[in-house]
Amino acid sequence: MEHSNKKHAILLIILTAIAVLTVVLVLVITNIGRGRNRAGTKLLNIAVTFGDDPCTQKNFSWYTEDDSQNAVIQYYPASESDKVGAKFDTSRAVTAEGFTERLDTYIPKAGEEYSASAALEPKSYTRHAVFVTGLEPGMRYMYRIGDGKNWSDTAEFTTAPDSSVSAGNGFSFLIVSDMQGYIYSDYELWGKVFGKAMDKCGSPAFMVNLGDFVERQDNALVWNYYFGLADGLENVTTVPVAGNKEDKMFLKYFLLGSQDGITGLNGYYSFDYMNVHFTVLNTGDGTKDLSKSQVKWLKNDLSSDKAKNAAFRVVLVHKAPYSDRNHADDSEIVKIRQQLLPLFDEYGADVVLEGHDHYYFRSEPVVSDGTVKAEYESSSVSAGGEKIDVFKLQKSSTGSSGVFYFMPGASGVRQHSKEFRDMPEILAARSIILNDPTFCVCDVTEDHIYFRTYEVDRYKLTATPVECWGIQK
Ligand SMILES: [Fe+2]
Repeated sequence: MEHSNKKHAILLIILTAIAVLTVVLVLVITNIGRGRNRAGTKLLNIAVTFGDDPCTQKNFSWYTEDDSQNAVIQYYPASESDKVGAKFDTSRAVTAEGFTERLDTYIPKAGEEYSASAALEPKSYTRHAVFVTGLEPGMRYMYRIGDGKNWSDTAEFTTAPDSSVSAGNGFSFLIVSDMQGYIYSDYELWGKVFGKAMDKCGSPAFMVNLGDFVERQDNALVWNYYFGLADGLENVTTVPVAGNKEDKMFLKYFLLGSQDGITGLNGYYSFDYMNVHFTVLNTGDGTKDLSKSQVKWLKNDLSSDKAKNAAFRVVLVHKAPYSDRNHADDSEIVKIRQQLLPLFDEYGADVVLEGHDHYYFRSEPVVSDGTVKAEYESSSVSAGGEKIDVFKLQKSSTGSSGVFYFMPGASGVRQHSKEFRDMPEILAARSIILNDPTFCVCDVTEDHIYFRTYEVDRYKLTATPVECWGIQK
């Protein structure tokens, strides 16, 4: 009898353990990639972007599954002791409200979440968005977002210093690109790359993402993975570039400008951060090359006083106009090359940051239509723990001093390895097939801009330099 009771007790313990394990597993799976569950409401896809003026404006957007029509942010200037994740001090907070819209999108059918070609079913979310204005330049703020009752954890953002601040102390920003995943594990890797990038950079002024955030833009679950698996992304301002994979949904995940957030924007814009003028293009707004209206805007932008007075002019673009592999000889890329290179030569740009091709490429500094190498002096310095090859350009007889086309590689699972036809007309200084994802740290001071690119071993999670180079003025 006693023996039988003992057996029953053991059986009961085993069954209880199985039940507890099952509940834990279900909880983990239902929350995976759907954002962290904060204060009873799920805030997904938190995106922080610059407004029209990075010194005084910041834009916020996020998604919820419920149909709450409130979009509220609270924020206050941070003291040194204020920390991310600490208790939010409502007594110091200013409140701002924005707008919401209900979005009809899709998620994988149950049981297909782990399939790259998952069948999708309709799913609605509420998009919340707030434009914050009137901020102090060069200030760190603590913030939280929510519907007025349920709030996110305490996070932080920082505004750009105004023009009275010398760029002598400099700033750093991150460059990532083409994570372009299908499923959860793809974005686990992206999350690790983001973590390594943050370790290397400390606190970046912002993070440029050169586009192709997702493989299937209508699959909202994959966007949840992009935002949800990069721990701390809500503390980093993103400078998003529209990739060909998100032509329709780009402006639904990133709030740009300072309009109504729904209309009036075409995914191209520019901004100034200290001594650098950034011009962000949308290579998907025309039929093959860039639309006429975007080209007109680009000419105006590059000839503006802000661009002319900047120490450096950096152009961000998804489809690489100048590279020597993968898409480099696609007919649409050839058209974009013919369209953009003469403009950069005539109006001036120092570096064009490129995505789309999923490998590492740096051109020689080129003038004219990219077939002529600019004159330069080279040297090397130590900075950021690395040896940096530095180029000092000289003005050519045409007045142009040369443009570097630079692709730091893809920050996700897909690295392209195909060899393509020889392209001797493309003046490549580096053209490197990669095994693993990369990120790039860019360090800027008054007279130099350095790019340190690291490849992250996907198993050992070590970050090894691919190339470190820069421009000296
Ligand atoms: Fe692409």
